[in-house]
Amino acid sequence: MIKLANFSSIFIANWKLNGNTEFINEYYQKLLPNSKNCVVVCSPSIFLNKLKNNNKNLFSGAQDTSIYIEGAFTGELSAKMLLDINIKFCLVGHSERREYFNETNETVNIKSLNLINNNIIPVICIGETLEQKEKKITKDVLTKQICESVPDLSNFENTLIAYEPIWAIGTGLTPSIQDIDEVHSFIKDIDIRFNKFKVLYGGSVKASNSAEINSLKNVDGCLVGGASLKVEEFNKIIS
Ligand code: 13P
Repeated sequence: MIKLANFSSIFIANWKLNGNTEFINEYYQKLLPNSKNCVVVCSPSIFLNKLKNNNKNLFSGAQDTSIYIEGAFTGELSAKMLLDINIKFCLVGHSERREYFNETNETVNIKSLNLINNNIIPVICIGETLEQKEKKITKDVLTKQICESVPDLSNFENTLIAYEPIWAIGTGLTPSIQDIDEVHSFIKDIDIRFNKFKVLYGGSVKASNSAEINSLKNVDGCLVGGASLKVEEFNKIIS
């Protein structure tokens, strides 16, 4: 398993359902990882093997995995298969998977456990909807998501948490800088066992706001969607 403690910050590109061979070849040619930060590119699974690199800070990551280990489950991709092609990180429980593919805290927990058992770091995504924020129940929502999604076996060395307020994803809106810091601090204090976890922020991160967000004491990196599709922009974010 990758040693997360070796990196001061972790930046993850989530390409979602975007990209093709030409795009990827150009992207990897132009991507400029640096020595202090960990950079992970979560491409669609068919392209996971496209990253040929010998940079020890740059990794290819998956966007999802199966709850199953092997067998008659057509269309699925197991954690063991991801390990087999040397994948070190995998997103789990992204809000789009929770919303469109019936992902639940329970399935997130099982998938994360499968990943850890295969030496792959799950990036467990949590976040509140706008309605929940307006009802002022963000902390209750996050507490339930964390307590139910994070397996008992998880610790700060084998698991990452990504806080992505759903209303900030793809909207250009972000919480205030103070709110981000407060929520991240809250997450780390939900239980003593989460104290040392690295918590990434996601939701409308771009080159113009990433440095300020990432400078927060309780922010350990960023999960970037739309802005990660433009390699020049992503280079600025990770620099
Ligand atoms: P945007 O950066 O496009 O808001 O998406 C965030 C996200 O969903 C990353 O997982």
